Amino acid sequence: SRKRLVAGNWKLNGSLDGNSRLLQELLVRPEMQAECDVLVCVPYVYLPQAVRILKGSAIAVGAQDVSVHAKGAYTGEVSAAMLADIGCRWVIVGHSERRQYHQESSAQVAAKVLAALDAGVTPIVCVGEQLADRQAGQEVCVVQDQLEPIKALGAQIVSRLVLAYEPVWAIGTGLTASPQQAQQMHQQIRAYMESDQVRILYGGSVKADNAAELFAMPDIDGALVGGASLDAQEFLRIVAA
Ligand code: 13P
Repeated sequence: SRKRLVAGNWKLNGSLDGNSRLLQELLVRPEMQAECDVLVCVPYVYLPQAVRILKGSAIAVGAQDVSVHAKGAYTGEVSAAMLADIGCRWVIVGHSERRQYHQESSAQVAAKVLAALDAGVTPIVCVGEQLADRQAGQEVCVVQDQLEPIKALGAQIVSRLVLAYEPVWAIGTGLTASPQQAQQMHQQIRAYMESDQVRILYGGSVKADNAAELFAMPDIDGALVGGASLDAQEFLRIVAA
């Protein structure tokens, strides 16, 4: 059976003071231990702060991107080994905002998956169609195309990563996929990847009020939460859902 995972993605938000308050608020709720993995993915510069504050707690820390390179002349990049070095064991790769604004290809995303796993960092690989794809009935094809280079890495690699289905039209829009729509895609993704054990998270306007109905679906193993992860109480209610 697959352990539930709820990950917050802070995106480009935060400050030392604000983070400190938010993380302390998360820490005062002990109910989140055993049955659910919980992590927060914060901007690079705040990773050491988050690691320090969450040390010894049940909440892990993740980054939002990673370089395909291990080291060298790559100005502005951060390697997976650097993440592991400071105690960051998770990383989001291939988020739609990286694909859209930084032209990340699915081949690059696959290279990031390997770079992360090489360093002992677990990648959360994001896929998801745009609204126009769904309107054209192409959502399954688009998502399979994004997954193809990941699947090509082999079953051994696939068993070590986490997938996240985030339909672009549901991100930050308040418009969530219905539990049925999400379940249908998760089922397709699981079948395509030929993996019973890979965890598939749903992302896209997940809130405390819709988390439970999403989590009730058999192939939805948790959530990748953007906006709602910036509010400690809301995020904790999603974890508890
Ligand atoms: P929202 O939860 O703000 O819609 O963002 C989802 C997301 O992109 C998480 O990675």
